[in-house]
Order: sequence, then C-alpha cells, then structure tokens
Amino acid sequence: MKYALVTGSSSGIGHHVCEHLLEMNYMVFGVSRRGAEIDHRNYVDIVGDIRVEEEILDIFDIVSEETEELDLIVNAAGIFTLSEISQTESLHFRDHLETNILGTFHIIKHSERFLLDNEGHVITVSSLASKKGYSGNSAYCASKFGLNGLLATCREEFKGRGIRFTNILPGAIDTPLWDEVDESISREFMLSTDDFIGVLDMVVSAPSHVQFPEIQLMHRNGGMV
Ligand SMILES: NC(=O)c1ccc[n+]([C@@H]2O[C@H](COP(=O)([O-])OP(=O)(O)OC[C@H]3O[C@@H](n4cnc5c(N)ncnc54)[C@H](OP(=O)(O)O)[C@@H]3O)[C@@H](O)[C@H]2O)c1
Repeated sequence: MKYALVTGSSSGIGHHVCEHLLEMNYMVFGVSRRGAEIDHRNYVDIVGDIRVEEEILDIFDIVSEETEELDLIVNAAGIFTLSEISQTESLHFRDHLETNILGTFHIIKHSERFLLDNEGHVITVSSLASKKGYSGNSAYCASKFGLNGLLATCREEFKGRGIRFTNILPGAIDTPLWDEVDESISREFMLSTDDFIGVLDMVVSAPSHVQFPEIQLMHRNGGMV
C-alpha cells in the first residue's frame, strides 16, 4: 500500500487527485476546512486549516495513527480572488500569502519526518501566475511567485535525502475556483482536471531519480483564461 496526503481535498484539483490516487490503490489522507465527500475504505478525511500550525500538528497526529511513511504529498489547497490593488484589503492580501505560501510551508515542514529518503515526493500546484503578472491578481501572483521560491529552496535543502519537489504551474483549469471569481468567464479555453491528472500521472510514474522542477501547462488557445 502507498500513502498520500492531499490538501484541497474538498474541491477542484485536490478533490480529483484524491479520487484518482484512490483508484491507483493509494491510501489517501485528504485535508480541507470543509471536509470532502469521498466515501472509500482507503480515504481518511481530515478537517483542518493549513494556515494554522497547531492544526497541522493535529493533521499529522491523525496520519501517524495509520502510517509513519508518506510516499506522496500533493499540495493543492489554495485561494484565488481578483481585485485591483487600490481595492485590495491588506487582510485579503495576507490571506493569499498565509494560504498559498505559509500553509504549504507548514505541510512541508511537518511532513518531513514521514518522507522516506530517495522515495518521498512532494508535488505542489503553483500557477502560470507565478511567472507572469496579471491585472487584478496582485495578492495571488505575489503568493505564487513566493511559493516558487519556497519550493526552489526545498529542492536544495532536501537534495541530500533524495526527496523530490515537483512544481506544477497550470494555466486556467475549469474548477469551482472560478465560480466565486466571475461566473461569466468563459470556460471554453480552460484545461480540465483530467488534463491535470495526465500530468500528475506522468510525474508520479517517472523513475524516482527523475525530478521535474517546474512543469507549465495551458490550453493551446488560452493561458490563465
Ligand atoms: N483552477 C485554476 O484555474 C487554477 C490554475 C492554476 C493554479 N491553480 C491552483 O490549484 C490549486 C487548487 O485550485 P482549484 O482550482 O482546485 O480550487 P478550488 O476548487 O477552489 O479548491 C481549493 C481547495 O483548497 C482548499 N483550501 C483553501 N484554503 C484552505 C485552507 N486554509 N486550509 C485547507 N484547505 C484550504 C479548499 O478547501 P476548503 O475551502 O474546504 O478549505 C479547496 O478544497 C490552488 O492552489 C490554485 O491556486 C488553479
């Protein structure tokens, strides 16, 4: 049995990744604030907020009741909202940094002891908005640019242990994330969560000495939207 922890399990990419890994016979620990509606004997639903370090300790206490080793971490929890800088509250800006960077940092920091040398693999969902600025995306872009810095550092720090850090940078993917932003945005040139799973499969099935530092993907006719 292989073991995976996936954040963002209640919706979108993270939810689809949980279902896919269960099909691949992983035991999956899914983390979100709302909880995920996944009914499977190998699924453990964990309600928690990745921004809060005490809650991360509780999350890994639950994991350690089942296993001391995790083969795979998928960091898919994240938030995305749009507002011009003059309209952006500092609370809103801070929430992006705390969820998209600090939350991922907490998961990596506390999963370290579960990751086996030369086998552990951490896959994180960044964004094309970590490479290019988009109008109205100051909080999101800042958080995703910063997230890349965190992951680049992890790759160096964990190199000696042979733990891989894959950073996937998608363009727009049709998920509930866009419902909150603007329901009128066309989904025609967005990728699907199945497209994302195709990339995940490629990365997970590669030999364990092969690392993909950053993978960008987008719809051939689109980009972020
Ligand atoms: N969809 C896109 O177009 C797109 C493109 C590029 C990158 N991405 C990235 O892909 C990731 C997943 O996005 P998505 O499209 O799947 O969005 P989504 O459908 O809105 O799902 C986001 C997930 O993150 C969880 N989450 C948010 N804040 C959390 C917190 N503080 N603690 C624990 N869980 C939290 C949510 O669960 P709860 O609300 O239940 O906590 C939810 O399960 C994000 O990092 C996003 O930036 C998305």
